Amino acid sequence: MSSHNQETGKLPQDPGSYWIDVDNLPSFSHLQQDISADVIIVGGGITGLTSAYLLANEGVKVAVLEAGKLLNGTTGHTTAKITAQHEAIYDEFIHNYGKSKARLYYEANTEALAFIKETVESRQINCDFSQQDAYLYATTEKYAAKLEKEAKAYEKLGIEGHLVDTIPFDIEIAKALVMKNQAQFHPVKYLAHLIRLITEKGGLIFENTTAVNVETESKPTVLTREGLRASGNMILSCSHFPFYEGTGLYSTRMHANRSYILAAKTKKSYPGGMYLSVDQPSRSLRSVKINGEEMVLIAGEGHKTGQGKDTMEHYKALESFAQQVLGVEKIFYRWSAQDLITLDKIPYIGEITSSQPNVLIATGFRKWGMTNGTAAALLFRDMVLGKRNAYQELYNPSRFYAHPSLKNFLLDNADVVGHLLKGKLEQPSASIEDLSEDEGTVVLIDGHRKGAYKDKEGTLHIVDTTCTHIGCEVEWNSGERTWDCPCHGSRFSYTGEVVEGPAEKPLQRHDHRMLDNLTSKDSGY
Ligand code: FES
Repeated sequence: MSSHNQETGKLPQDPGSYWIDVDNLPSFSHLQQDISADVIIVGGGITGLTSAYLLANEGVKVAVLEAGKLLNGTTGHTTAKITAQHEAIYDEFIHNYGKSKARLYYEANTEALAFIKETVESRQINCDFSQQDAYLYATTEKYAAKLEKEAKAYEKLGIEGHLVDTIPFDIEIAKALVMKNQAQFHPVKYLAHLIRLITEKGGLIFENTTAVNVETESKPTVLTREGLRASGNMILSCSHFPFYEGTGLYSTRMHANRSYILAAKTKKSYPGGMYLSVDQPSRSLRSVKINGEEMVLIAGEGHKTGQGKDTMEHYKALESFAQQVLGVEKIFYRWSAQDLITLDKIPYIGEITSSQPNVLIATGFRKWGMTNGTAAALLFRDMVLGKRNAYQELYNPSRFYAHPSLKNFLLDNADVVGHLLKGKLEQPSASIEDLSEDEGTVVLIDGHRKGAYKDKEGTLHIVDTTCTHIGCEVEWNSGERTWDCPCHGSRFSYTGEVVEGPAEKPLQRHDHRMLDNLTSKDSGY
């Protein structure tokens, strides 16, 4: 079991996801020379690996490039619910895009669930897959009315589900809506099996290989940070945030949302099912088996990245919710997840732009990457093989559903401009002398905004707070000990290294011994 065990009722001091705390995950070397394959896949999460598996099965020669460790990104930090119940969206989708598109979205995700189930069964993958009903619940009349509308949408779309008045927890609810026969699993165990099958079929996988650009003048080619080239007939961009945007303006068409997860042993036993509140702040529950013991994942507290309160407060709020609902015996893990949300809540999956049909992209799954990521891989397989796929138009990144998108586009970008200005204008009031151990904050040094973190040994780590993506000001995340950007969700370690893109370059660092010498010309190294 992990080193995150703590005393009863105490949050683990260090964050870490249960999913990636597994032994025997295969590892791969970094790319050391130029390569070519039929298809180059960038990103080693559920989308990239499922695509590689599907294509390798069709005899296509694939090469996967992963910037860090496989499965360490969003896929390793999910709640791993496999469901088409993606909050209360179907009434909204029918209203905004029509009944047939809403139905297509449901079908794409239901097919993805069926594909995972069939793969687990036919390949006999030991990944704690279990069928569960999914519930949305409302604790207020206002949100109960929303669920009633959503239930009508289920009826119109032929979705198996209905309203209920209670759920088996100590939570006073106004209404709940069940979607039958959904599922949950251990995503890393599932994908570790697919990794073995990919390599058995001759697929190449490289870790610690950061893709930074694409050339499409002659043969589509991915360029790595080290200047190496990976060429193919097609490139699939399956990284969380696109490593390459072409002229698709993806940064302006998505925002990042951060949420939090605890894995706890509870006093009361778990009654089965997967639950998600529709009121705010959101709350999510599902069971999980850890070392043969039944535990519970408690998740929620979502907010835009870099715009939340002190991040430890979010974990504490989840802890007290768990305490109230099931009683907490011990918390074993805590981690956070970052999700990208498109303007119209439908992922962007398909040609990056119509002028670059050999570069396909999949991003913006909101919190529903297990099914949307799998649906993306199934769509990519068909596009690579030149087969028709019923969901191509629905997910097309170049679509334009004017009604909500335009408003969200303006809001998201006004938000980015707002953060660009706010960050530059705000004068931090804290000073380095006030910092306790294991504390970080934004400080002013010789009139310059800097990020300072004093580690547990008392060593200061100072970085420039200007995000290396397009220049917003990062903010301290005390729960993860990272610098987070409110504009597009880039995250940096306290030493400035990129933890999560779209930023590619680290934050500029300053040697604490040079603090006294900081002048108008910063001395970074
Ligand atoms: Fe875009 Fe920071 S992530 S400016």
